[in-house]
Amino acid sequence: MPQIFDVVVIGGGPGGYIAAIRAAQLGLRTACVDEWRGADGKPALGGTCTNVGCIPSKALLQSSENFDQVGHHFADHGVRVRGLELDLAQMLRRKDKVVKASNDGIVYLFKKNKIAFFHGSGSLVSAGASGCEVAVKGAQNETLTAKNVIVATGSSPRPLPGADFDESLVLSNTGALAIPEVPKRLGVIGAGVIGLEMGSVWRRLGSEVTILEALPDFLGTADEQIAKEAWKVFTKQGLKIELGVRITGVKAKKDVTVEYGDAQGKSQSIVVDRLIVSIGRVPNTSGLNAGGVGLKLDERGFVGVDEHCRTNLPNVWAIGDVVRGPMLAHKAEEEGAAVAERIAGKKPHVDFNTVPWVIYTSPEIAWVGKTEQQLKADGVEYRAGTFPFSANARARALGDTTGMVKFLADAKTDQILGVHIVGPFAGELIAEAVVAMEFHGSSEDIGMICHAHPSLSEAMKDAALAVDKRALNI
Ligand code: FAD
Ligand code: NAI
Repeated sequence: MPQIFDVVVIGGGPGGYIAAIRAAQLGLRTACVDEWRGADGKPALGGTCTNVGCIPSKALLQSSENFDQVGHHFADHGVRVRGLELDLAQMLRRKDKVVKASNDGIVYLFKKNKIAFFHGSGSLVSAGASGCEVAVKGAQNETLTAKNVIVATGSSPRPLPGADFDESLVLSNTGALAIPEVPKRLGVIGAGVIGLEMGSVWRRLGSEVTILEALPDFLGTADEQIAKEAWKVFTKQGLKIELGVRITGVKAKKDVTVEYGDAQGKSQSIVVDRLIVSIGRVPNTSGLNAGGVGLKLDERGFVGVDEHCRTNLPNVWAIGDVVRGPMLAHKAEEEGAAVAERIAGKKPHVDFNTVPWVIYTSPEIAWVGKTEQQLKADGVEYRAGTFPFSANARARALGDTTGMVKFLADAKTDQILGVHIVGPFAGELIAEAVVAMEFHGSSEDIGMICHAHPSLSEAMKDAALAVDKRALNI
């Protein structure tokens, strides 16, 4: 007997579970199908983000930062600690507990909102104007009938050709979050977000980290000035980053040999104990039966969607990492909530221009809107204001004065076009810029707002004032 729903969501990551919760809040009969299993073999809702992404990586970033602070920075504050020891097994257990609490939180939210959960792999059987059918392959096979289907199947790590992940020597994000002992020599391929975050974790815990990056520029998606500042800090911390390399071979036996051509084209090699490969991610579409029902994928293999996340099939929607745009949990969530609202007849809007980015290194890097190089390329006239954390009283009290805040505003209207931060708590500070941009605020608006003293947020105000060359504290 088929089960009938208004909405069936395939995928229980941040895109899928938020879509399901919003649909249920709006009174739609909702089901979510997800195939993830935790390390204990049991269903584990939350997708990549909760299980092997955002949440465990931030848990380890915090724990490793604590270790680094006690080991290297507490003495500056007059706090001497003798006999500091790393209990890596406990650090990893704590990370697993943080993940489990998040998995359980989603189960609770599903129950609270009366969302039916099916554990298994979901695929489209049919999709038409009158509704869709989804087959679930799991412990029990089911067929669900739905007026609407939301595809939220996420993404998987891209392997390097010829170096499959074994999660022992050659690690994806999954293995990188669970290395049982600190590797003496850790190699990382790709100086993107995962490479920098996971490279930072293991460096703080004692590894010699070498990151090999194909592109000639460091962090090309960030503002150039911010990327330059971050480069200085990371290399000073001890991350060895080589740019412009071409990987020619990876041999994994007892350890891992990586052969590559350097920026000058000279053949080089490194031998490391473990290798993290973080060279981007690919959309999960293979289990969907896209070909069978005529669901169009784009030229890069993502599910093709319009700006409202509609696919080419009636009543089939797609959101999150499996569609175009940045692979970020909050972008997936915004799309999920918006699609649920659209199904319920509302007219939501997702503003892709104000999706913030945060890289949780130390210092953190965060930005929203356009970079200076993008504005130049687009021929936009702008004014820039920067303010260093070294001139901010709270940063000095904190003992972390690295980095700066940078505002970019339209030369004529003063509307904020982009805000870029490298420095302490950049990931929290960026929220003010997102709100300001969402309300089409100007740098003068931020400069006129009273910010608490002493606070890091005063660096936001001073950088905004600096656009008009009137920063107060420098
Ligand atoms: P996913 O989270 O990938 O979830 C998809 C779910 O669908 C999975 O459970 C999968 O098993 C399931 N699924 C797939 N196919 C099927 C099928 N056929 N049937 C049933 N189920 C299926 N983003 C941030 O914004 N901030 C961060 O700090 C951050 N840190 C990250 C750290 C790491 C190490 C990684 C790898 C990623 C990180 N991300 C971060 C990115 C973030 O995890 C993704 O953007 C986000 O998870 C995408 O959500 P999603 O719902 O689209 O897909
Ligand atoms: P990424 O796209 O951030 O970085 C990949 C890097 O690998 C790029 O710099 C690229 O030039 C390089 N590269 C590609 N092929 C290469 C090769 N053959 N040799 C050497 N270098 C190569 O991808 P990453 O780090 O794998 O992360 C995937 C996505 O997950 C991110 O783009 C982001 O969307 C998300 N994520 C977000 C986080 C956050 O928001 N804090 C944290 C971690 C991941």
